[in-house]
Amino acid sequence: MSELNLILLGPPGAGKGTQAERLVADFDVPYYATGDILRAAVKEESELGTEAKEYMDRGDLVPDDVICRVVVERIDRPEARDGFVLDGFPRTIPQAEELATAIERLGRHLTAVLLIAAPDEEVIRRLSGRRVCKENGHVYHLDFDPPKNEGFCDQDGSPLIQRDDDKEETVKHRLDVFHDQTKPLVDFYEKQGLLRRFDGTRAPDEVNGHIRATLATLRLEEEL
Ligand code: AP5
Repeated sequence: MSELNLILLGPPGAGKGTQAERLVADFDVPYYATGDILRAAVKEESELGTEAKEYMDRGDLVPDDVICRVVVERIDRPEARDGFVLDGFPRTIPQAEELATAIERLGRHLTAVLLIAAPDEEVIRRLSGRRVCKENGHVYHLDFDPPKNEGFCDQDGSPLIQRDDDKEETVKHRLDVFHDQTKPLVDFYEKQGLLRRFDGTRAPDEVNGHIRATLATLRLEEEL
């Protein structure tokens, strides 16, 4: 079977992480979320974490060279031989160019860029109600996707917390950063014929159904 090399693109809170969990369960490929990687580094107080923390707390992007190194190393791992799902990367044109160079060097190609779209008001509503599991980052929403036991993760029982950058002012700044620096990637990938759009305001399972149908079609086309 052909490789499945995917990018999840979209504003903060569009549901990239939510869809990634479902995609990984469906396709058994490794999932690299740069936000999760950076938050783990901050927790460990590693050199990467120390460098990234001040940018993340403000809702700004960490410098391109820092994050590119992290991702390029991962897609070259044996576990990613049959594919990968990238979430939160690339987020700027220089990052996308660096990724293209790395993928070409490995003799591979991107399968698709999945754009999950959601308007700003919806993003603010979602992120203010988002809660994440302290241990493994599983994602919930107080109203739209509540856990069975209030305050605790359904999957591993650990406490649910609010992310530091989910406070309303920081969310608004993250949205500005998205419109300024990340949105140009929509055009960038559309021109390459890689972009597929999904309505992120639909229910999570419905969005997942649309993504699965699109990927099934792409794979059929590749096999022809
Ligand atoms: P990151 O962690 O990547 O944050 P983000 O892109 O802002 O994305 P989120 O995780 O906030 O949202 P999501 O789309 O995954 O939504 P989710 O599924 O959780 O990055 C954090 C920071 O790290 C950045 O600000 C930056 O500093 C740094 N960084 C990361 N990558 C970088 C890079 N490449 N370059 C430079 N810096 C980088 O869903 C949100 C909520 O909505 C949840 O509560 C969920 O339950 C709910 N929900 C999801 N889908 C639906 C639905 N369909 N209907 C109703 N509710 C839904």
